[in-house]
Amino acid sequence: MKALVWHDRRDVRCDDVPDPTLREPTDAIVRITTTAICGSDLHLYEVLEPFMEPGDVLGHEPMGIVEEVGPEVSHVSPGDRVVVPFNIACGRCFMCDRGLYSQCETTQVREHGCGAALLGYSKLYGQVPGGQAEYLRVPQAQFGPIKVPKGPPDERFIYLADVLPTAWQAVEYASIPEGGSVTVYGLGPIGQMSARIARHRGARVIGVDIVPERLEMAGRHGIETVDANEHDDVPAMIRELTDGRGTDSVIDAVGMEAHGAPAVKAMQTLTGMLPDSVAQTLFQKAGVDRLTVLLQAIDTVRRGGTLSITGVYGGAMDPLPMLKLFDKQIQIRMGQANVKRWIDDLMPLVSGESDPLGVGDLATHHLPIEQGPHGYEIFQMKQDGAIKVLLHP
Ligand SMILES: NC(=O)c1ccc[n+]([C@@H]2O[C@H](COP(=O)([O-])OP(=O)(O)OC[C@H]3O[C@@H](n4cnc5c(N)ncnc54)[C@H](O)[C@@H]3O)[C@@H](O)[C@H]2O)c1
Ligand SMILES: [Zn+2]
Ligand SMILES: [Zn+2]
Repeated sequence: MKALVWHDRRDVRCDDVPDPTLREPTDAIVRITTTAICGSDLHLYEVLEPFMEPGDVLGHEPMGIVEEVGPEVSHVSPGDRVVVPFNIACGRCFMCDRGLYSQCETTQVREHGCGAALLGYSKLYGQVPGGQAEYLRVPQAQFGPIKVPKGPPDERFIYLADVLPTAWQAVEYASIPEGGSVTVYGLGPIGQMSARIARHRGARVIGVDIVPERLEMAGRHGIETVDANEHDDVPAMIRELTDGRGTDSVIDAVGMEAHGAPAVKAMQTLTGMLPDSVAQTLFQKAGVDRLTVLLQAIDTVRRGGTLSITGVYGGAMDPLPMLKLFDKQIQIRMGQANVKRWIDDLMPLVSGESDPLGVGDLATHHLPIEQGPHGYEIFQMKQDGAIKVLLHP
């Protein structure tokens, strides 16, 4: 089959690889009809290189048709249309019982001290072959795959694999008070949907980014926007819009690759030039995140407010302004999305006649899998208006 394979820093290729087969009684094989490229894939594309190996199949936002199931899989059968969550969870351990699927104790990657295994996501998360491919072996399929109705286009449901539950959790964790306000830093797919969900739930939403078409897209969905390029002090600007206090809540939907942190950018480039073992240690022992946006988020949230971090960070010892966090009495919540925890909330919003979250207005590119490498390039470089790239194997 064809699959997108990681070869090296910024070198992803569409290769022929062996078809996956059932290995465990809890596996399923899904023929992929749509699979997305995510901001999290961009970390693998470049910064997280020390944890990747040539030959790793990428991708964690797939959907398609079930081809085959193992004997212990009963809630889906061949022919069903399914979306596959990016976290691999058993559905029956201590963590899963509490809805903390991204911490599943059956699939935790203990070797690296990490939470639940993820599809297509580096050694840190189990090196499980991913879903940017024609076929996918789905582990723990007795729990994971989400059945969706036949008929509406894939674009209606594909974001249930990651973008929508991640955005929903970001909004939940932001604890926006009734009629309150939230700033969303980053208007990539995660920020777009976090902003739309917060608005749908009645909040005043201010979105911040540096890319014109991303700001425009947010504007189309009723979000007030701030172009960070135009303000030296974005938090001060947002305080001006909010009676001098800042918003009740802030969502960081940017993460470790924020623009505008030259020293750390140099450090991230350096890790790319070191042998993997040295770079891995540096990553796990030192601070290598670009914290520009996180620091702005801390500055933006009002005293006593809540900061919800959904952008991914990877440094072990990032320096943080503890005085400010403590003095402002800020609550912080974060983490990988517990995908299935939020599906019952989201399904009615994507499967009805109307499209309240505007899922039809997010993908900017539909490409065949052979053009996946081009998809990575334009998404990373923000070329050709790329906001969300969907691949159709
Ligand atoms: N928590 C989870 O489970 C989860 C799931 C999916 C993605 N993520 C993470 O969410 C983040 C966003 O993902 P995405 O798919 O939307 O990717 P993306 O790369 O398209 O989004 C990042 C956005 O941040 C903007 N940005 C960069 N620097 C900025 C700055 N200084 N000020 C304002 N905006 C700035 C970029 O222009 C871009 O629009 C990534 O870190 C990704 O890894 C987390
Ligand atoms: Zn993703
Ligand atoms: Zn579990």
